[in-house]
Amino acid sequence: MSVPSPSLPSSPSRAAAPAPTQADLLDFVRRTAADAELVASLPLDPEGRTWVRLQGPGGSEAWLIGWPPGTGTGWHDHADSVGAFLTASGELTENSLATRLPTDGWKTLELTEGVDRVRRLPAGRGRGFGRHHVHEVLNESRDRHAISVHAYYPPLPRIRRYSRTGQVLRLEQVERPEDWQ
Ligand SMILES: [Fe+2]
Repeated sequence: MSVPSPSLPSSPSRAAAPAPTQADLLDFVRRTAADAELVASLPLDPEGRTWVRLQGPGGSEAWLIGWPPGTGTGWHDHADSVGAFLTASGELTENSLATRLPTDGWKTLELTEGVDRVRRLPAGRGRGFGRHHVHEVLNESRDRHAISVHAYYPPLPRIRRYSRTGQVLRLEQVERPEDWQ
């Protein structure tokens, strides 16, 4: 007697490559940052950040970014994207929050004490991050440019920008990545 096997719904994504993970993106930014010729090809501007879009793995969004001394991103998140970034030259500082923010429906939020994290990322160091990661990235050097490689998956649909006064975080605006770059 044969038992009919249940029919499985066909999955259109089955044949496609799996979505890149944080680890995949970190591996990509590490390999890319080691490409000295590519890193050296980025035009640098003492007045502001510069960037070149790269082809990230598995349909991810990737960027090579130059940071003059004293520049930074301000606080922002990456919505539902996971990501990774790594310093190729110079040194960056990442300030981040070890907490998950409510997704929507708030304008200001008082952060609990102890949620702040600081990472110094000299050349060759970076990190991956999960969905809803909130951070700011800075080049705190007085005299040295920094260059870094970034990758996000899915490609950034929008980011939310925040201002911060002490422990109070305020949602300022929602931007598309074109505005952010
Ligand atoms: Fe970011």
